[in-house]
Amino acid sequence: MSVQATRECPSMWNEKYNQTDYVYGTAPCQWLLMNQHRLPTTGLALAIADGEGRNGVFLAEQGLQVTSVDLSEVGLRKAERLAASRGVALNTVQSDLSRHPVVPESLAIAVSIYAHLPSKIRSDVHQRIGQGLQPGGLFLLEAFHPRQRDYTSGGPRDPDLLYQVEDVLADLPDLTIIDALEGQTLLAEGYGHVGLGYVTRLVLQKGASL
Ligand SMILES: C[S@@+](CC[C@H](N)C(=O)[O-])C[C@H]1O[C@@H](n2cnc3c(N)ncnc32)[C@H](O)[C@@H]1O
Repeated sequence: MSVQATRECPSMWNEKYNQTDYVYGTAPCQWLLMNQHRLPTTGLALAIADGEGRNGVFLAEQGLQVTSVDLSEVGLRKAERLAASRGVALNTVQSDLSRHPVVPESLAIAVSIYAHLPSKIRSDVHQRIGQGLQPGGLFLLEAFHPRQRDYTSGGPRDPDLLYQVEDVLADLPDLTIIDALEGQTLLAEGYGHVGLGYVTRLVLQKGASL
């Protein structure tokens, strides 16, 4: 596994997740919940860097066939337990996203919630997701913005792991913007993200027509 290239060591995440509590809680990210009305209810979904599965499980609850990909097998085992407790199926894949293939035009939706990918890997992953979306498919993202370094509510300090709207749009120039926002929001996600934070939020669509 090319752990060096990711700067995100699986053992670090395994250690973090190796406890009964869910570090970021079991409720979906607020941004995903706020967009529930837009989510497809059939087809394939990809939840990248899904950790303990709170977002993948929520997508499965909408009726989607979800694959959760993450470096951490400890996180993914918790994701499987969460899915079982909610009575939904979740396909988990322990993999480095820099090497995870996506079948072109296969996905109804892909979500990236606090994936913290370095820019070099991130561009490739985003481009693969762009190709992987079906016509009309959605890409929903929430990440910490570089300004999050002024806040204490969580997230990495390395600026290369922090996302701005323009970075993500540069990776996915062919997708249509539905929402592209940067700003402050009050986070209450387990004990991992707590307090006022500064986030980047996007909903993009492949070939959207308004
Ligand atoms: C802050 S956690 C977010 C987890 C989840 N998305 C959530 O919001 O609850 C970041 C996750 O990204 C995963 N991750 C980081 N780099 C990765 C990579 N290159 N490939 C796969 N997973 C990665 C970590 O294992 C960790 O679970």
